Amino acid sequence: MSRQAVLVTRRIPSSVVARLEERCAVDIHGGPGAMPRDEMKARLAGKQALMCVLTDHVDGDVLDAGPDLRVVANIAVGYDNIDLAAARSRGIVVTNTPDVLTEATADLTWGLILAVTRRIAEGERLVRRGGWEGWALDFMLGSGLGGKQLGIVGLGRIGRAVAVRAGAFGMRVAFTTLESGAAADHAGDGSWTPLSLDALLSTSDVVSFHVPLTPATRHLIDRRAILRMKRRAYLVNTSRGPVIDEAALAWALREGLIAGAALDVYEDEPRVHPELVGLEHVVLAPHLGSATVETRTAMADLAARNVLAVLAGAPALTPVTG
Ligand code: DGY
Repeated sequence: MSRQAVLVTRRIPSSVVARLEERCAVDIHGGPGAMPRDEMKARLAGKQALMCVLTDHVDGDVLDAGPDLRVVANIAVGYDNIDLAAARSRGIVVTNTPDVLTEATADLTWGLILAVTRRIAEGERLVRRGGWEGWALDFMLGSGLGGKQLGIVGLGRIGRAVAVRAGAFGMRVAFTTLESGAAADHAGDGSWTPLSLDALLSTSDVVSFHVPLTPATRHLIDRRAILRMKRRAYLVNTSRGPVIDEAALAWALREGLIAGAALDVYEDEPRVHPELVGLEHVVLAPHLGSATVETRTAMADLAARNVLAVLAGAPALTPVTG
C-alpha cells in the first residue's frame, strides 16, 4: 500500500519535515514565496493532507483538486483563508494553531502600543535621515500609558494575554466581546470592565483589536466607529486587516480625529494603503504577530501533528469547530 502524502505550501523547519516524513510522503514548495494557486491545485492530486498558511486561499475549487484530501492544516490561528463549509461538505477536517502563538502575538501588540504612543518608529526614522538636532525638553513628546484605559476588542486567548500585560504599564482594562450579553466571567478577576463596542471606543485611550475576521467583523471599524473614539486615542490592530476600513482610518488620521495607529495587518497584504505610508503618526509592521523562531516552529509542528493524527484515524488535536 502506498504511503499517505501531504502537500506543504511553504518552507517549514526541518524538524517538522522530519516528523512528517516518519509517517508520510512529503511534497514541499521549495521557493521562498507563496505556492502559486495553479501549482497547488496540480500538486494536490493524490494527497491526503494539505498544510497551508494564511495567504493560501483554500476554497471549493482548490479542494476539488485534491479528491483524496482528509485534512487541511492551517499554520495559523486565524482560518478566514479557508472555506469551512466547502471543506465540511467534502468531509475534510480543518485545523488551526491556537495557543502556541498567544504570547508572541501579545508581546508584539505591546511593542506596537509602545512604538506608537512613545513615537519610537517616528523617532527612529528621524535619526536615520539625519534630522535629529539634539535633546530638548519639549522634543517629540509622546503619550504616557499609566492610569489610562486599554480597550480590548475581542477577549479570546490573545486579547486576554494583551490585557494581562496592561497591569505592568499601569493601565486599566475594558473589553468587549461583541456578543450581546456574553459572560464577562470575572475577566481579570473582575477588574476588567465589560463594555459595549461603542462605550469602549468612546472611553479608551488605546483600542486594540483581537477578533477573528468574519462577515460580522469585516470593517467593524469604519468612519462611524472611528468618530466615536477619543481625539487623543490610538488604534492598534494585530488581528486581521479587513477588520479596519483602511480608507476610513487614513481619513481619520489625516483629519486628526485620533492620535495615531499601529498596524501589523492590512486589508490587502502585502499592499498597504498609500496614505498610511505617508503618515508619521502610524507604525506599520509587516504581519509579525507570531514571528519568533520558537513560535513559528511550534505552529508548524502543531499543524504537522494535526495532519498525522487525522491520517492515523485519530481526532485532530486542534480542529476548527466554528
Ligand atoms: C495567525 O496565526 O492567524 C497569525 O496571523 C499568523 O501570524
